[in-house]
Formats: sequence, C-alpha cells, structure tokens
Amino acid sequence: MQICYISGMKRIYINELKNHIGEEVSISGWIDIRRDHGKLIFVDIRDMSGKIQAVALPNNKSAHEAASTVRPEWVIRASGIINKRPEKMISKNKETGEIEPNGDIELELKTVEILNQADTPAFDIRSNGLDINEEMRLKYRYLDLRRPRMQKNIRNRHKIIKMVRDSLDKQDFVEVETPILTRSTPEGARDYVVPSRLWHSNFYALPQSPQQYKQLLMAGGMEKYFQIARCFRDEDTRGDRQPEFTQMDMEMSFVKREDVMDVTEKLLVDLVTKLYPHKKIQELPFPRMSYKEAMEKYKIDRPDIRKDKNDPDLLAFVWVIDFPFFEKTEEGGWTFTHNPFSRPKDEHMQMLMDKKNIGDILTTQYDIVLNGFEIGGGSIRNHEPNALLKVFEIMGYAEEEVREKFGHMLHALASGTPPHGGIAWGLDRLVTILENEPNIREVIAFAKTGEGKDPMMGAPAAIADKQLKELGIKLAK
Ligand code: AMO
Repeated sequence: MQICYISGMKRIYINELKNHIGEEVSISGWIDIRRDHGKLIFVDIRDMSGKIQAVALPNNKSAHEAASTVRPEWVIRASGIINKRPEKMISKNKETGEIEPNGDIELELKTVEILNQADTPAFDIRSNGLDINEEMRLKYRYLDLRRPRMQKNIRNRHKIIKMVRDSLDKQDFVEVETPILTRSTPEGARDYVVPSRLWHSNFYALPQSPQQYKQLLMAGGMEKYFQIARCFRDEDTRGDRQPEFTQMDMEMSFVKREDVMDVTEKLLVDLVTKLYPHKKIQELPFPRMSYKEAMEKYKIDRPDIRKDKNDPDLLAFVWVIDFPFFEKTEEGGWTFTHNPFSRPKDEHMQMLMDKKNIGDILTTQYDIVLNGFEIGGGSIRNHEPNALLKVFEIMGYAEEEVREKFGHMLHALASGTPPHGGIAWGLDRLVTILENEPNIREVIAFAKTGEGKDPMMGAPAAIADKQLKELGIKLAK
C-alpha cells in the first residue's frame, strides 16, 4: 500500500472546515465509517471536534486505493478540497430537518496517509453503548471513550469543573491539594488501606474525604479553600457510588450556615444557567425541608420533589436541614449521622456540652438534594476543642483514644481556629444528573465495575512475593 506524505500543511480541526470552502486543507483523525460504492468511496472522518464525509474519486488513484484499504478506527491524515455539497446531497436531521454539522460540505480526497491501523473494535462505538455489556466497555474503555456520548460527557464534566474553578477563584477561594496517603478518618465507610514499607505493621488510609485537612487549612489561616478532591470509600458499589469518586470540596472561615448554602446555591444556579440553559430549575431560591418533614412526607431524607418526573430537563433542588446529630448504634450506643466534626445548632449546643437529650440534638448539617439524589452535604463545625471532645465522648471514645486519634484536631482547635464550615458536592453525581445519564460510571473516564474491579488494568491484583516481603506481609492461606 502506498503511503502519501503531506508536507507543510497545517492541520485543521473538522469543525473549522466550513470556513475553508474551495480551499485545500489537511485534517487528521479516525475513520468513522466507510461506504465503498466501487467508483466512489466515501469515508466519514472524525476528530475531537466533529465528523466530515470525505470522498475518493477514481481519477485520483492513490487516494482511491488508500480509501479502499482503510477500515473503521484506522488513524489517518488526509488532504483535499472542501466542496459544497449539491442541494439534494445535503444531509439533514431526520427529525428536525436541520442541516447536520458539516452536512453541507464534503472533503474531496487528494492524499490519504495511514498513521496507524486498528483491530476490528471489540464493540460498536458509534451507538450510545448503553446496551453493550458494561464489563466489556470498561475493559476496552479507550475504545468506549471514543463514542460521541462519552466524548460529550467527559468534555462537559471538564466544563463544569472549569466553571467551578473559575468562579471560586474569582471569589478568592484557593485550591489546595491535600494528601492521599493519610490516616483513617471517620466518615462512615470502610477505609482503603496501604501498607507501609518503612514502618511494618502500619498502614496509611486513603482519605474518605479531605474533611480533617480542610479544617486544618482553616486553622492554617487559608479562610477560603476548595479542591476537586478524589475520595476513597470501601463500600458496596451502586449506580450512584464508586469506590473512588470526586468531590468538589470547600471550607470557609467566619461563616454561618447561610453563607455556605448561599455560595453553593449561587454556584449551582450559575452552572445550570450557563452550561445547561435548556434545563429548568423547578424552584428558586432552592426550597428547604427539615429532615423530619422529609421523612414524614417522602419517607426518605433525599426527596425527589419534581412536579413532573417525565421531564428530563427539570431540576428540582432541595436543601434538607435539621438532621439529628446522633443515632443509636445496634449495640445501643450513639454514633454520628453525618459528620463527627459538625456543630449542633446554636440552640442545641448546651445539650451537647451537658450530654443531655442526645437523640434530640440537631446538627447544622445541610444536604443538597437534586431529583432525589444527594449531590452534596456539609455543615458548620465545632471550632472549640471541648465541643469536639464531647462528640467523641458521646460516641463512647475514651479521652485517651480521642487524644491519640484526633489529638492534632484538638490541638489545632485550641490554637486559634476560627469558626468555620463547608460543604462537599458529589461531582460525579451532579454531572450524571445534568447529563441525563443512568449512572455515575457514564461520566467517569475510567470507572470501576459494580464489583469494584478495573477490568482494563486488571485491578485489584495479586502482588509479587518480593513486594509482600518488603511490606512485611504474610497472606493468610
Ligand atoms: P459526604 O460523605 O456526604 O460528606 O460526601 C459528600 C458527597 O459526596 C458524594 N458521595 C459519593 N459519590 C460517589 N460515590 C460515593 N461512594 C460517594 N460517597 C459520597 C455524595 C455526597 O453528598 N466531608 C464531608 C463533607 C463536608 O461536611 O463538608 C463529606 O464527605 O454526593
């Protein structure tokens, strides 16, 4: 097969071709589909910006030969002239009658350079992919990511994150990275642990959230923090849960509940109006419901209050507030419902300090719920060490144990920590709902299966005996 080299021509992205009618251009991309009509060979060429139909005419022998050789997903560089299509060849959307992107132009191939060949794809990547076995999709995720729906999801996720970053930057928040190798922090799920080579029998834990670090940043005088933070929780995976997921995490000093809710609400409304203008927010400002009311009316603490559940573009945000701070454990003790670092409502502070009527103490916790999914939660924190100590006492920790595990928090709070509070959004969940996807795996580039596996990398996997030895680990038979 003859390979033609195109020299000196600048690559043009496919969505720009409409501005080059009558000109000779060079494009690069993948063969999307090929239709061989003998004399005329049509190939759709795709890059990250769009698709265009190219045609190889029989009078151009080398281009015609190359076009007859290429197969879907081969990678090519091609040159040719951008022609207007005759009126009756214009490709229009069957439903709306609108001209499809590049539906009125065509690339008449001059040269085709094959940059790489491709095995026959493991599955169809031109469909939306929802009916393909998901383990296969995740095993060949690099192929799966090429489908237009996944391209759209990942690119829109980026836009959402970028908008959040830009907006918070303008509001003087600072993005700070916090450690991944850390120590277990109580967040209600099981930890992922990492054995230490230098300190046998000791383990790091991967953070379930940056909760303690962000509070320590407030102790550190940062005042307005945020982070697009990876979190790890060893819990059973579901449609809206992954073992590792991303939070848009933030914390602010000298604030009250209203301040955090206000920043969150404004940012969410801004995101929707700028990036999803066709979507409708059911009620503004977001309605508020107490936990009690949600449980009585909807029997769930994340109510779906949409007035029309058939409308895919209706967004019903609701704040759920006034949660009980503690709930009974199976053993008859007390545990926190949301976050041990939360502060009770002002009027319930004394009950905490006196450890009285524990079941009646309400927290400053606020959850933001969208269409029945909890997409975020946060609270104002206890910024005095004695109050935090009381929370752990109620949960049955001995003072010594609290000092051993949370001594750094108590010390930080005793070192001039301002009043503070924050929130964390479940970013994957938010993107899922905005993109009308059925589960969060559709908006995560490299997601794990329902069983917590990465079938592409083959994780989790056994490790070499040498590694085990270095770590001082003997596996139970
Ligand atoms: P919380 O535990 O409520 O709060 O987490 C915040 C948000 O993260 C999302 N989320 C998840 N998303 C995908 N997969 C998971 N396994 C998963 N678990 C949680 C949810 C949830 O609302 N440190 C506190 C926040 C704070 O108080 O500021 C925290 O982590 O959308």
